[in-house]
Amino acid sequence: MNSKENYDRYTIIGLVLTLIVLGGMGVYWLGETTRLAEAAETLADERVHRGREIFTEQCVSCHGAQGEGGVGTALNNRGLLKNTLDDVFFSVIRSGVPSTEMPAWSVDFGGPLTDEDVKDVVAFIRAWEPTAPEIEPVVFVPDETRGALLFSSTCALCHGEDGLGTDEAPAINDPARLASLENDWYRATIRNGRPAKGMPTWGTVLSPDQVEDLIALIDAWRDGAEVEAAFSVTDLLASAVFSLEEGDADSAGLHVTRALQSAEGAGAEVLRNAAVQLSDGDESGALATLSALADQWPLGDSTAGGEIYSTYCTPCHGAQGEGGIGLPLNPSEFVAGSRTPELVEFIFEGREGTAMAGFDGRLTEAEIADVIAFLRLWSP
Ligand code: HEC
Ligand code: HEC
Ligand code: HEC
Repeated sequence: MNSKENYDRYTIIGLVLTLIVLGGMGVYWLGETTRLAEAAETLADERVHRGREIFTEQCVSCHGAQGEGGVGTALNNRGLLKNTLDDVFFSVIRSGVPSTEMPAWSVDFGGPLTDEDVKDVVAFIRAWEPTAPEIEPVVFVPDETRGALLFSSTCALCHGEDGLGTDEAPAINDPARLASLENDWYRATIRNGRPAKGMPTWGTVLSPDQVEDLIALIDAWRDGAEVEAAFSVTDLLASAVFSLEEGDADSAGLHVTRALQSAEGAGAEVLRNAAVQLSDGDESGALATLSALADQWPLGDSTAGGEIYSTYCTPCHGAQGEGGIGLPLNPSEFVAGSRTPELVEFIFEGREGTAMAGFDGRLTEAEIADVIAFLRLWSP
């Protein structure tokens, strides 16, 4: 009886000790999880911190200091952040958005960022989510001419001009298939691709709006319409240079051929030289020729430009470019330091909030090119 009591007592003491030890381990274990969580948080903070630096250096010029948008989309936007996975941001940033101003950033595509850098930027963008404002989406209307432009820069290499097919890939502009397949099928096929069969996955490369532009094109083809892509030589030159920088001479050749269809005069001559260099396999020569042309495109005529200048620009910039209401242009560091395509855009759009109003609707692109050729006499 006594021993039974003792036994019970020892059991209870043992049990209590065990509980104390276990409890201690529990506390230790809890502490360890917190430590791990804190370590993970510090790591995440460091990512966000590094991401902020990259964003400030590389992205604010287009996406705004607070991600509010500008040339580029607003990224500090609740709707976008909620609906976009990190993986999608990751691959859009790596590969850029073709036919838009969003460049490819990955070192794999000739950009400056490693995959780790891109993850840092994604972490930084993601950190906006809790406080991101709700931005009213701009109503988007799909457009088949935009679709046609995208198709020729992105799909035609495999699917042929006007989607008529090549040895590489089937025709998309195929009446029988267009009649029997629904847009949802095309949407899914374009987004998912068939990587095993050589059809790339576009859902991570193209924006949803761009896919809708392609669907608008497919709709137009289904109705039997012919859709002309609105080629701009400026864009084609930029694409050709980009392709050559990535070592893709075939695409560059395609862009040069297209540019030749719209280019005239001295510029067409230079383009023909580049085409010859490409067919001789002189890729670095072609790259030099095309980059120089891209910086000066569109070429204008300075004599015609002088006349346009005295009509439109003298009142503010002075007959000799000495300045007045407007800044001096003789000489102008701004003109000397800008590529012609940038100056064209500047003169089209003007500078907001100043007397320098845009000339869109008043001067054509060719006239602006002439004025720029004239301004370059003052500021080579
Ligand atoms: C030269 C201008 C430019 C620069 C620099 C630029 N972007 Fe963009 N970015 C754009 C444009 C324009 C778009 C919209 C493309 C389109 O029409 O789909 C875009 C789109 C994006 C998108 C997709 C948004 C969406 O709606 O899905 C992301 C993400 C993005 N950019 C991130 C970045 C990051 C990160 C950097 C810096 C490393 C950067 N961008 C630098 C112009 C730029
Ligand atoms: C690198 C070559 C390549 C590029 C670039 C490419 N595709 Fe394809 N695509 C293919 C191949 C190959 C197939 C056929 C796959 C198969 O046999 O299942 C295909 C199939 C398709 C189909 C299904 C056709 C059908 O009738 O079954 C569609 C739709 C399509 N591509 C759209 C596009 C669009 C839109 C683009 C541009 C955004 C594009 N593709 C860019 C190679 C390409
Ligand atoms: C109504 C007055 C006015 C007219 C007309 C005008 N400008 Fe300007 N322009 C300005 C002002 C003001 C500025 C300076 C804006 C600012 O404060 O940044 C300016 C700036 C510029 C600049 C940038 C200079 C720099 O250093 O930043 C260029 C280039 C330019 N104008 C070209 C033209 C050309 C070419 C024409 C004719 C086609 C023209 N402007 C007509 C008022 C005018």
